[in-house]
Formats: sequence, C-alpha cells, structure tokens
Amino acid sequence: MTVRPIRYLGDPVLRKPAKKVSRVDDSIRRLIADMTESMYAAHGVGIAAPQIGVGLRVVVIGMPDEEPFALINPEVIKRSGERRLDEGCLSVPGYRGAVTRSVAVTVKALDENGREVRVKAEGDLLAQCLEHETDHVNGLVYVDRLDAKTDLVKVTAPRTAADADDEDEEA
Ligand code: NI
Repeated sequence: MTVRPIRYLGDPVLRKPAKKVSRVDDSIRRLIADMTESMYAAHGVGIAAPQIGVGLRVVVIGMPDEEPFALINPEVIKRSGERRLDEGCLSVPGYRGAVTRSVAVTVKALDENGREVRVKAEGDLLAQCLEHETDHVNGLVYVDRLDAKTDLVKVTAPRTAADADDEDEEA
C-alpha cells in the first residue's frame, strides 16, 4: 500500500468525469488499498480516485470508528429532502463551505469483489459523503455547489487527526 499525494483544486483530473471500471480485478483492489491509506494519511473520511490522480470511478469511504469500504461505479439512484451543510474537501485544503445536500441518499455500486451493493443513509455524515464522493467521480467539487463565493470560508486553525471532529470532516 502506498500513500499517494492528494491532487488539489486546479488540477484538471478533478474536473474530468472519471471512467467506468469495467472489471473489478487486483489492480482495482490495489488502487482501493492506496486510496484507503491516502485517505487516512490526510485525515479524511472519504476519497475518490481522481483525488490521487486516477481517472476511474472508484471511491473509498471511512466513517469515524467504522471499517472503510469501497464503492466502484457509484451512482446515486435515489435522493430526497434538502439540508444545508458545512463541507470540506481534501482537495481544497484550508477552506470550508456551506452547500445544499440531500437528507436521504441511496447509492448503487459494486463492492471490491465486483458484487452489486446498495448503500442507504439518511441525515448523517455518510449521506453527505456519498453525494460528495459521487460528485468527485463526475468531475464535480463541492465548491461548484456553493450558492455564492461568500459561502466559502477560510479555515485558519491547523487541522490534525486530534483536532478533527464531526463538524469539520473532509472527503
Ligand atoms: Ni472531496
């Protein structure tokens, strides 16, 4: 497993819709292992392959105190409700922004063994993360969803695993 550098806003790989994975094989599982390592090294709760420079539709989600899991070719197949949330992204370090997200989200994807899975979440960080990471593989970053530039705020405090809490997760 290798920690790979995070790509930042301005890198074209973040703006390009990623390619569908046609076969879930060992190379994809190695990618997932690297993404997981890279996510934890950056103290994130989620990561998408374009964030380490790989244009494939693969995401990893690692909720606090839970086992991380991968979603391949994730698609939001159901969403309902709206809520305003504070959001951050590993690819936009030092900033947070207020975005509108769904309350309930269902994602269809393949797991790391190529089996079809559905993940449902409602009103929590996972629901937010499912939309955030699916956006990434579609070439969207949360700053694209801001109503106004003033909704983006600079965060001055240094962030470490120790000072991260549920209010300032990045993905
Ligand atoms: Ni992100």
